[in-house]
Amino acid sequence: MNLLIEHVSKRYTADVWGLRDFSISLAPGVIGLLGPNGAGKSTLMRILATISKPTEGTVTWDGTDIVRSPDSLRRELGYLPQDFGVYPNLTPVEFLGYIAAAKGLDAPAARRRIDELLLLVNLDSERTQRLGGFSGGMRQRVGIAQALLNDPRLLIVDEPTAGLDPEERVRFRNLLSDLSGERVVILSTHIVSDVEAVATDIAVIVRGRMVAHELPETILAGVRGRVWEWVVPSSDLVAVRSRFLVSGTLRRSDGVLCRIISTGPPDPGAQSADPSLEDAYLSLVTGARKEGAS
Ligand SMILES: Nc1ncnc2c1ncn2[C@@H]1O[C@H](COP(=O)(O)OP(=O)(O)OP(=O)(O)O)[C@@H](O)[C@H]1O
Ligand SMILES: [Mg+2]
Repeated sequence: MNLLIEHVSKRYTADVWGLRDFSISLAPGVIGLLGPNGAGKSTLMRILATISKPTEGTVTWDGTDIVRSPDSLRRELGYLPQDFGVYPNLTPVEFLGYIAAAKGLDAPAARRRIDELLLLVNLDSERTQRLGGFSGGMRQRVGIAQALLNDPRLLIVDEPTAGLDPEERVRFRNLLSDLSGERVVILSTHIVSDVEAVATDIAVIVRGRMVAHELPETILAGVRGRVWEWVVPSSDLVAVRSRFLVSGTLRRSDGVLCRIISTGPPDPGAQSADPSLEDAYLSLVTGARKEGAS
């Protein structure tokens, strides 16, 4: 099972690029696609879901070109778009039944699968309520269920944790880990902690370009020795931010504890700290932006 993306670009208008010469090869596992707003995550996912076409480059799924022959991938695809909408007057059972029919599942198998999925996403007791009255998190769970109807080998979920409360986030992460195995799962987000727990590898995308595709521990190792903690008076915070890359702050009784990413100590009083994935991500994104600007 392999999804191969080679030199893919998407140019929306003369000067707006969604993706630029993007290449990656994906095997079974959970790939965390991290990038700031406008980085190109949804652009990539729409291309992989065969909703939009690249302007350049090729994508193949187990050797078949998905632009020229999208049908074989579509049968094996589950996709939760970022702007997933539901029909407010339908119940989860009706909605999922409708999607199952559109995907060509036969009715008895679809009914069984819908029952399983409603249990999996914890919506069994709401199965006959109308979607219009559902919270954002409940709708998102319906979205996950529809993406899983055909037991996809390629599952693409675009910012699935947006709008979920902390408890639901955790549940969702567990659900994704349970689902992984013999499938390629691509999960996009700009929240590092969402992928930290579940991703087997992480791809960072900035301004349409791939900045890193590594194991989480390799990404972490990239900032080792460059993360510092330094307590500064709160009145100095603005100045510190303008001089250094600050990845976090914590107010304390003796001032503000700043986490700073810098090749050397920002101050003789600063202490070296263990890097987090958040530090590594911030460092990659800032580095890529600087390179893009110069
Ligand atoms: N349909 C479109 N027409 C024109 N430009 C677009 C279109 N869709 C996206 N873009 C542009 O392409 C770039 C990448 O957008 P994309 O939506 O892929 O980013 P993203 O990483 O998903 O961002 P977010 O985190 O905000 O969802 C942005 O500059 C965006 O403005
Ligand atoms: Mg997006």
